[in-house]
Amino acid sequence: MGRDLWCRNPSRACESLARSRVEIVPASDPIVFLVDVAPAGATEPAAGWESTVRRVRADEPIVLGTDLSATRGDGVFETLGVLEGCPQAVDAHFWRLANSAELLELPAPNLEQWRVAMRVAGDALPTDRQGGIKLVLSRGVEGAGRSTGWLIATVADDDFANRTEGWKVVTLDRGYRHDLSEHAPWLLPGAKTLSYAVNMATLREAARRGADNAIYLSSDGFVMEAPQSSVLLRRGDTLITPKTDIGILPGTTQLSVFAIAAQWGLATEDRLVEASELLDSDGLWLLSSVKLATPITQVDGKSITVDRELSDKLNAALLARRE
Ligand SMILES: Cc1ncc(COP(=O)(O)O)c(C=O)c1O
Repeated sequence: MGRDLWCRNPSRACESLARSRVEIVPASDPIVFLVDVAPAGATEPAAGWESTVRRVRADEPIVLGTDLSATRGDGVFETLGVLEGCPQAVDAHFWRLANSAELLELPAPNLEQWRVAMRVAGDALPTDRQGGIKLVLSRGVEGAGRSTGWLIATVADDDFANRTEGWKVVTLDRGYRHDLSEHAPWLLPGAKTLSYAVNMATLREAARRGADNAIYLSSDGFVMEAPQSSVLLRRGDTLITPKTDIGILPGTTQLSVFAIAAQWGLATEDRLVEASELLDSDGLWLLSSVKLATPITQVDGKSITVDRELSDKLNAALLARRE
């Protein structure tokens, strides 16, 4: 039933029954839903998957102090952009969620259940503002052997000036070689785990150095990603992104950008990118689900070419997506 409910109204791709039942909160307070996590392959309850998604007060305690997400950051998450109440690139996010869960040896998520939960959360957001939904799947309470999960829907409290003004970035050492996946898979390269303390510390370091964001370099000099975004370069008529088997996350926005670029007749490449190419590009962006495409104006204090036209076109195309 998932898809049918998802596309109930052809004039609005993700119109659903749930919208009429969920109170729509225009405030920027987070809207939180607790999910009674079902294992993959479980049968839908008679009352529908919606019955497993319970809206809670934003200030209601829903996670125990012994939950491994709280004590060890042991779990995975996804953050999706929401436009007109429609969560974006759901399939790509769900692929990454399942992949992250597999890498952490967590029980596989029930994507049918999460699809319904995602839509219920999207329906709670106002349609005239951009929003975001964070999906959290934890290993659960120590010893319980059962995942805990919840969703947080928020109105994007941002004017997205980044898309026009751009950001200055610094390059920072990630501390490991680009072939990490081959020799240290236990470090979970490519998994979107809840352990983001390092990513947040990187952003603070960037701010200390007078920048808005950072691009990680591998210890052997290849471009990786930013703490919360993928990296995109333009060289001539080709869009380039670092290949993902170098210990970085496969970006869902980057995937969308490559699909859009192919329609525009631009070539695309994912490959190893040398650090020196950052300064030598015809355009450089950070890509992520809510902020979308942010043009980079400076790398390590050096001004670089800003392709405003392509930047605006990319953001318009990303904003026009409805699924
Ligand atoms: C480390 C990292 N890389 C890349 C991305 C970009 O992914 P997406 O485009 O799916 O938001 C994110 C987003 O959260 C991230 O945290």
